[in-house]
Amino acid sequence: MATSRGEFSSRIGFIMAAAGSAVGLGNIWGFPTQTASNGGAAFVFVYLILAFCLAYPAFMAELLIGRYGQANAVTSLQKMSRTKGHKQFAFIVGFGGVVCAALILSFYGIIAGWMMSYAIEPVAHFIGAGNSAEWVVSQSLTRNILFTACFMFLTIFVIRRGVEDGIEKWSKRLMPLLIGLLILLIGYVFTLEGASEGLNAYLNPDFSRVLDPGLLISAMGQAFFSLSLGTSVMVIYGSYISKKENLVSLGAQVTLIDVSIAFLAGLLIIPAMYVAQAQGVAIFADDGSLISGSGLVFAVLPALFDTMGSMGLMVGFAFFVLMSVAALTSSISMLEGPVSYVVERHNIERKKATTFIGILIFFMSVGIISQLGVMLDFVATLATEYGQPIIAMLCCVFVGWIWHRNDILKEIQSGNEKVEHSIFWKIWPWYTKFVCPTAIAIVFIHSLR
Ligand code: PFF
Repeated sequence: MATSRGEFSSRIGFIMAAAGSAVGLGNIWGFPTQTASNGGAAFVFVYLILAFCLAYPAFMAELLIGRYGQANAVTSLQKMSRTKGHKQFAFIVGFGGVVCAALILSFYGIIAGWMMSYAIEPVAHFIGAGNSAEWVVSQSLTRNILFTACFMFLTIFVIRRGVEDGIEKWSKRLMPLLIGLLILLIGYVFTLEGASEGLNAYLNPDFSRVLDPGLLISAMGQAFFSLSLGTSVMVIYGSYISKKENLVSLGAQVTLIDVSIAFLAGLLIIPAMYVAQAQGVAIFADDGSLISGSGLVFAVLPALFDTMGSMGLMVGFAFFVLMSVAALTSSISMLEGPVSYVVERHNIERKKATTFIGILIFFMSVGIISQLGVMLDFVATLATEYGQPIIAMLCCVFVGWIWHRNDILKEIQSGNEKVEHSIFWKIWPWYTKFVCPTAIAIVFIHSLR
């Protein structure tokens, strides 16, 4: 059965695909700006702790659910269920994750479309099409719909090809491109005036803020969003991993790559902002904080590229290609969640299911675009601040309280026979049962206040 539904052909294939899902706009845009507005290295420090102590155990729970079930999130969770009540609970958690992935894709696709449009702008300038260059970065309805459609087309194109030929092949091509572009851009920005001041701001910790509740909430939200938790995505990716692989170390490697790329992105974005300041671009908002959010990516950075003359065209192009690639390796995972659900539960052929769901999500995006000011924030908050933590917490509850400990051990042992005597097995089950759900619930309740 495993082969007929697809499987990653190699360990590196899984690592690239899962790291591709994890590394996205959240790392390259979200992490640096959160760092900037939350006390610099103090945020990095808290983020690292939460990523490894809270997000990694929850990530392992989702991977294990999938590899045990060898199926989409709902079916996998139902395989562990022993009573009718468990089965209903499994449906709510699994289907909730699928809906969450679809919601995230509906707004992520719009932002990714903007990234693509900003990558085209320097090209249009270069070939002398000034009017088109202006149009592609204008906030018009047609431009938003057109670029969202282009991005969704690429996502559908990859997912229609399945696990090995689509997700794995493209992640293996795009991830090295992403890392290469990131390092090149960092190297270039470091040669410019103002970069060292930015580096200082990034790496200089303000430890008085480490226990600030706002900082803790932001760091946890960022870690969960970054590891794509609570969306059924890591469950389905887990189901494509061979039983011969050591899941504990695979999960740790993906977490490490995710965290490292977020850190690298900080080395690019924060120094770039200070370089922009040295060129006379305003980088602080009225309240004295660093400009973050869309103002940073679509105003401060383009203003910096403008000051670089013709070199700026190339740098701007490379930067927005980097953003688009990061978004694509994540969006394919978001589409795979709902597609695998429909293919396996409703027996619909993959290509048809992909096109149908892709178009459906595109229409959801058009709905958001038509009321952009209100809807974008609303859907993003609903999916990432409510949906993801709640579903991730329920997955931990499922593993900790419903799944039999012996069955869990058997699943982890495949590909890792000695795990029973490892520190992982001494801590993780207890951690997933008590610490993760409680910590997520506390942070979540706090964020509601
Ligand atoms: N991890 C991605 C990022 O950091 O941009 C976002 C993401 C991907 C969220 C996949 C949810 C998901 F299912």
